[in-house]
Amino acid sequence: MKISNDRGAAIAFQLYGIEGKAVSLPGEVDLNFRIEGASESYLLKISPPEADTAILEFQQAILQHVAHSDPDIISPVPLPDLQGSFISETRDDAGNIRQVRLLTWIKGRLWAGVNPVSDKLLHSLGQEAGRLTLALQGFEHPQANRSYEWDVAQAKWTREYEHLFSGEKLEILSYFNDQFDRFQEAYAALRKSVVHSDVNDYNIVVNDDLPDPKVRAVIDYGDAIHTQIINDLATTIAYAVMGKPDPLGAAHPVVEGYHSSFPLLEEELELLYVLVAMKLVISVCKSAINRQKEPDNAYLLISEAPAWELLLKWRKVSRDLAHYSFRHACGFSAHPSEQAFKDWAGNQSLSLTSLFPSIAKETIHPLDLSVSGTFTGDREVANDLELFQFQIERLQSEVPDRIIAGGYLEPRALYTSEAYDRVGNKGKESRTVHLGIDFWIPVGTPVHALFDGKVVCAVNDKGDKEYGGLIILKHREDGLNFYTLYGHQSIESVGQLKSGDQIKKGQQLSIIANYPENGNWAPHLHFEVMLSLLNYANDFPGVAYPGELSIWESICPDPNLLFRHVGPEVQAGEDPAETIAYRKAHLGKSLSLSYEEPLKIVRGDGAYLIDHMGRRFLDTVNNVAHVGHEHPRVVRAGQQQMAVLNTNTRYLHDNINEFARELLSTFPEELSVVHMVNSGSEANELALRMAQASTGQKDMIAMEVGYHGNTTGCVSISSYKFDGKGGSGAPEHTHIVPLPDRFRGIHRGEESGPLYAAYVKQKVEHILALGRKPAAFFCESIISCGGQIELPDKFLEMAYASVRKAGGLCISDEVQVGCGRMGEQFWGFQLHGVIPDIVIIGKPIGNGHPLAAVVCTRKVADAFANGMEYFNTFGGNPVSSAIGTAVLQVIREEGLQKNALETGNYLKAELKKMQKEFPVIGEVRGQGLFLGIELTDQELNPQTEKATYLARRMKDLGILMSTDGRDGNVMKIKPPMVFSKMHADLLLEALHRVFHEDYMQLL
Ligand SMILES: Cc1ncc(COP(=O)(O)O)c(C=O)c1O
Repeated sequence: MKISNDRGAAIAFQLYGIEGKAVSLPGEVDLNFRIEGASESYLLKISPPEADTAILEFQQAILQHVAHSDPDIISPVPLPDLQGSFISETRDDAGNIRQVRLLTWIKGRLWAGVNPVSDKLLHSLGQEAGRLTLALQGFEHPQANRSYEWDVAQAKWTREYEHLFSGEKLEILSYFNDQFDRFQEAYAALRKSVVHSDVNDYNIVVNDDLPDPKVRAVIDYGDAIHTQIINDLATTIAYAVMGKPDPLGAAHPVVEGYHSSFPLLEEELELLYVLVAMKLVISVCKSAINRQKEPDNAYLLISEAPAWELLLKWRKVSRDLAHYSFRHACGFSAHPSEQAFKDWAGNQSLSLTSLFPSIAKETIHPLDLSVSGTFTGDREVANDLELFQFQIERLQSEVPDRIIAGGYLEPRALYTSEAYDRVGNKGKESRTVHLGIDFWIPVGTPVHALFDGKVVCAVNDKGDKEYGGLIILKHREDGLNFYTLYGHQSIESVGQLKSGDQIKKGQQLSIIANYPENGNWAPHLHFEVMLSLLNYANDFPGVAYPGELSIWESICPDPNLLFRHVGPEVQAGEDPAETIAYRKAHLGKSLSLSYEEPLKIVRGDGAYLIDHMGRRFLDTVNNVAHVGHEHPRVVRAGQQQMAVLNTNTRYLHDNINEFARELLSTFPEELSVVHMVNSGSEANELALRMAQASTGQKDMIAMEVGYHGNTTGCVSISSYKFDGKGGSGAPEHTHIVPLPDRFRGIHRGEESGPLYAAYVKQKVEHILALGRKPAAFFCESIISCGGQIELPDKFLEMAYASVRKAGGLCISDEVQVGCGRMGEQFWGFQLHGVIPDIVIIGKPIGNGHPLAAVVCTRKVADAFANGMEYFNTFGGNPVSSAIGTAVLQVIREEGLQKNALETGNYLKAELKKMQKEFPVIGEVRGQGLFLGIELTDQELNPQTEKATYLARRMKDLGILMSTDGRDGNVMKIKPPMVFSKMHADLLLEALHRVFHEDYMQLL
């Protein structure tokens, strides 16, 4: 029976003397109202007529206990009625007596509505739940010992309902019930106390800090019970990790947080995995029973689905791996016998000849195959097995007395097959960290057993970048169990063994295989030691996810420990903290770093940048790596020429001519002379000199928020700098025109081009009025730092006309937008039907190599050549020229301009669709692969913090984006031109995810 809001308000007034509006809230048992009083809010709880007073008293007692035991815990506090009672009574319309309670209101949001649920928030959840458990220690109450179906300890009743399920679901329920039965004795001995035991999405209050939320309080003590303490954490995990792609990964911070407030014991952690499952088993059985009672209730089905989804996933998680992960979260060694193994192994001092008796070598020569290592070269070299093997053999001839080996815990970028990837809680992630040692030894080398053992696996692990012939042996030495693994062996030799075979120390196991039989690698032995087989039967990971490294490193200890004199391992994955510290101490302070937690990027590959741990980031920002990071053809052009000659342009050389020819072929014939330089700044600096030389004037007109480079001359025409932090305004000879921003500028809309062009005319007139003339007008074809501002129609045409009429030059800075990026045209100015006098080319033309150019008309070039030599030590050298030529050829041959058009159009159209869904997207604009997303509210106020948040969150999800614009509220998209539709989809998916997050909503 319902009770109206008015009635709720009346009850609050009658019983408690509180005047306020009542708003009814959802509740499973009680009718709940939020009473909004003049200064405070309250929670009014009206119990059903049959409610047991003893239970209500129990709940009130807990709340009072918590409030008194830890003043820092925020929890609802029971308030007395006007008579001083904590439980009052009222009569409903049907004449039933109902018990009423009033509690303080906890401000915040319910967990169920919070997005995203970050690891930090999960940690804070564990921490709060643990604090509550700590506060409840010593609390006793007769009602705490009631029989209760939701209590994990009492979950055995679910057995009786297994008949409601079939197939996989039945298998899962029986599996977990069997596991639960099996550990009852140990379970019974665990610590018990009263615990909350229902920390679910609707009982957790999160604070209102949207970008960095924390759990404030846990409410609703209706399920509190005296039980094994660990059941409380099991329940918390069961609800908190629902819907997560990697539930074990999400459970880790919860356990860590809980342990930080309420230290857990090893024996509790051992059972936690099954207890989490048992909470879910209770939940799905309850749902099935309810569904039987109400078959038409669709809601019951919906609410059951996430619990089943989690149970299905949880069943696939290795129980041992979960146990080790929980131990790690609590600061114990992940594997319980890690230390014992290390102590034992440290005393072994085997010789490498025990493993390879046919090779009489005792020490290794370390091989650096880490992400930053140069041995593997670029992507193409790394995948060229013949070349790889050739390099190994050559290295071997240089170190004939050693075995080339290494790789334990080395993060590598070699694992290119999809078998190494998964979708984790932060998007796609890849296994990169090597868990064994690789011995790079010749095909046919026999491999021998180091210890007595039993074969547990002898298979052909087929597939690209798999093990090929694989053997795993189980050993027991001095009471310790462990396994050794031998990968990439010949199938024939592995075929001689079968599971269960006893192996004697020193016995030959197998021989080294060649590719492709060995999984497509240069020949080597992958040798790994494991303390557990987890759930694996015919395989075992040889490479781990970087995020799980500290768990896997404990399960797979360093095999080097077994040997004496193996020599040094390569120290890979150097801590970025050291890199930051040195940089801070010795590099100029005005160098900035992206992101609060800076990235250490050590490798590039196409549209991706890769960090020191092998994490791949999709790069949507880098228009310097124009044809893709470390494009093999460009790299080789530079490498090859560098090996032959690099000198200045005072000698004849064909490379500079060839580069000039390639470059000029992309221009209209009026632009026919090129000067080679080394950076965009240097190019603009030269353009300034050219303009002054050919006009005899000094006055420059430039764009508001424009940026043209870092030299004194360039800064003097860069409003982005002199009007920004540390700047002191425009110099005397610089005249700034307003940013022609159709969206938020001083004139808006499609027709605003002539209005903005009028400011250029005004500036020309102003200069003339001073008795001077304009030297030049500097402008980009899309204003980049200004926030990807597309120039409105007619602007450039009219501005050029005004400047030229007064004798000034028109200079197009194409440093950001040139070289095909616009899609429709090769150069940005071509979109506007104008031909500049000078074009500035920078970033993309060298694909990362310091190369830039100034292209101009014959007239300008001749005027500049007034007798003073233009000498540039590096500009146009044979190496730079070879690189520039290769870049232009790759753009043409790989159809990258067309790709910029097609992918850019697709991306822009999809972003425009997104704009309809998310009001914070004020505008989507740009051309080709040079796009901008401007974030504003409905009144077009810039949403700068949201843009910063978005960039940070995109990085969390493995996508690099950055912000720009006068207000820093524009997301700029200008990726390497190999950015494909597949990459665009990855970007769109991640953007969609973040735009849904709480902080991105307009209030
Ligand atoms: C439009 C524009 N011009 C010139 C430059 C200066 O180029 P560089 O950094 O190569 O000196 C930049 C650099 O960001 C730029 O964006």
